[in-house]
Amino acid sequence: MDLEQSFEALLQRPILSKLPEFQRNERLKHVIFAQQFDRDLLDHLCQVASMIRTISRNRPGQDFLTGLLSHRRAMLYFTQPSTRTFLSFMAACQILGIVCNEIRDPTLSSEYKGESPLDSMRMFSSYFDAIIMRSNVAQFAECSAYLMNELDARQQRSVPIINAGSGADEHPTQALLDIYTIQRSFEFSSPKDTLRNSRFDQLRSKYPSLTLGLSNKVYGFCGDVGRGRTVRSLSTLLSLWENVTIYFIAPDYPKLAPRQDMLDRLREAGVRVHRARALRDVIGELDVLYMTRIQHEHNTDADREFFETFDQSKYILTSELLPEMREYCAIMHPFPRNQEIPPEIDLDPRAMYFRQARNGMWIRAALLAHVFDADGRIVTYHQKNYGLTRQDA
Ligand code: NCD
Repeated sequence: MDLEQSFEALLQRPILSKLPEFQRNERLKHVIFAQQFDRDLLDHLCQVASMIRTISRNRPGQDFLTGLLSHRRAMLYFTQPSTRTFLSFMAACQILGIVCNEIRDPTLSSEYKGESPLDSMRMFSSYFDAIIMRSNVAQFAECSAYLMNELDARQQRSVPIINAGSGADEHPTQALLDIYTIQRSFEFSSPKDTLRNSRFDQLRSKYPSLTLGLSNKVYGFCGDVGRGRTVRSLSTLLSLWENVTIYFIAPDYPKLAPRQDMLDRLREAGVRVHRARALRDVIGELDVLYMTRIQHEHNTDADREFFETFDQSKYILTSELLPEMREYCAIMHPFPRNQEIPPEIDLDPRAMYFRQARNGMWIRAALLAHVFDADGRIVTYHQKNYGLTRQDA
């Protein structure tokens, strides 16, 4: 793909100088990088996600939500395999009344006849009001956003681009749902709690330094941390919180180990970063364990040779390891999983990965509402009908 040629000068710039182009006033215009989110925006999106969750519990609430953006259409352009991201974006659109269409197999579109991917993007923008895209080509989403900005500058039709996973580089909306899941896990609020006896108080008697929220936590990323784009995007967001420690638990093989640019970036942001060679060595210290699969689809011949003798056992969460973990440690995984989390772990109350997937639907709905300037109406509706309770806010 000759994407780099079209936008080479723009792509080469340091990331911070790119960010203003993806904003419109105080609002995100395109969603391309995790670096576009700050703490205020993340808190806001998590709140709106919880409000949407509450509002959609009854029929009048659902009717309110589906009326919000029923004048909008979205294109889901997913040319790389996806189950959760695709379906949760589709469900998020449906919650807000956005009509969706999809292309998942480019051989069924004019790309098969030689149409360039950027021409395809421009065509989508003629028919739809947003393009949600996943591609195995790194930076394709970023280039598409530049194309839209060029069209905008020429006062031609231009629509938001939302990156639903690009190459091995970024998966910002997965990072959003991960943050939302961690935030909910560390609220320790349960309907069973009373003012006198909360789960948080019980845990504090055993773990005196435990705090609410994402600060002061030890996070472990285990598995293919070199090629997992979810790891890159989530660790970027975690660096926005205070007193964060991250263990990268991965083999020494360079493709699987954390990339130097990510380590440098995290250290610069004040994160304490450590390497570990086996999950067992650090599991007792973790507040959150983020498991990942080995991304075999990126293997070269040399990698395949390495994997012939590779022993993955040090990077698998077996039942024997469970008693070593903290009582509240959140077990996460972006999915799909392979053998790194055996199904028997699903019964453990610390397993968050199915909730994580459902949270993706709510936070993606919140993100779309934000991009289309409908989040204010959600907040107003929520305040009017539910007030501000601890659980919903
Ligand atoms: C991830 C992805 O596509 O990067 N999946 C997802 O979106 N939940 C993780 C993976 O494929 O391993």
